[in-house]
Amino acid sequence: MTVDSIDPAQFTPSEYSAMIVRHLMAESGVARDATVCDIGTGSGILAQTALKLGASHAVATDIDPDALAVARHALADTAPGSRWDLRAGSIWQAIALDETFDLVVANLPNFPGASFRPGNRSPHWASGGADGRQFVDPFLDGLAARLNPGGRAVFTQNRCIGLQRTLDRLAGDGLSASVRDIVLVAMGPEKCAALDPDAARAEGFVRVGRHVFLEVCLIGAEKPRSLIS
Ligand SMILES: C[S@@+](CC[C@H](N)C(=O)[O-])C[C@H]1O[C@@H](n2cnc3c(N)ncnc32)[C@H](O)[C@@H]1O
Repeated sequence: MTVDSIDPAQFTPSEYSAMIVRHLMAESGVARDATVCDIGTGSGILAQTALKLGASHAVATDIDPDALAVARHALADTAPGSRWDLRAGSIWQAIALDETFDLVVANLPNFPGASFRPGNRSPHWASGGADGRQFVDPFLDGLAARLNPGGRAVFTQNRCIGLQRTLDRLAGDGLSASVRDIVLVAMGPEKCAALDPDAARAEGFVRVGRHVFLEVCLIGAEKPRSLIS
């Protein structure tokens, strides 16, 4: 698949990725000289931002061949040469167990609605299964092992899929985790119709009149430099 035959609108970065871009830019030291892993790279925007901010190397993965073609084009434009590596695979499949990073970034599909496929997006873009955690949970499973001591993960998730559950899992793996930012994203009729009824009863929505917003959390998680204080 060449990038010219792919509709670029399919891979316009979302508000979720924008939160991570803003965070990396506001704390540019976090990317400088860092080794970076971007899981579910899509447009390539998160790896691209980290490289622009001086990351020494970025590995980016996706399961969608079209996403990989688009990301290849974007990364080649930002960082010609050998500072990046694109890999096909689901979540950690393309990352060896002993491969570790200073910075892990991800905006994985986590909308709670099994059949949700927004207009022009690929089928892999947005749905996180009925409970929204289909990809977030396997991501959390492998995260702590892939961070260097002192390394950081920055990722987004909808609050309604279980914010405390995510924070507890990170703490259980020895990571120091907190919510770094929250934004509201308008649901619109398409998302309202696709929302799983159980998720609709959870915390994490702001309703004003007939409008509904999702609370989207930016979560940061750090691995201690050493277990010895
Ligand atoms: C919400 S999009 C965000 C992508 C990117 N951060 C951006 O803004 O362009 C989620 C991405 O995760 C990818 N994805 C879905 N399931 C995946 C999986 N099991 N493993 C790796 N990537 C996956 C999708 O193909 C899509 O590119």
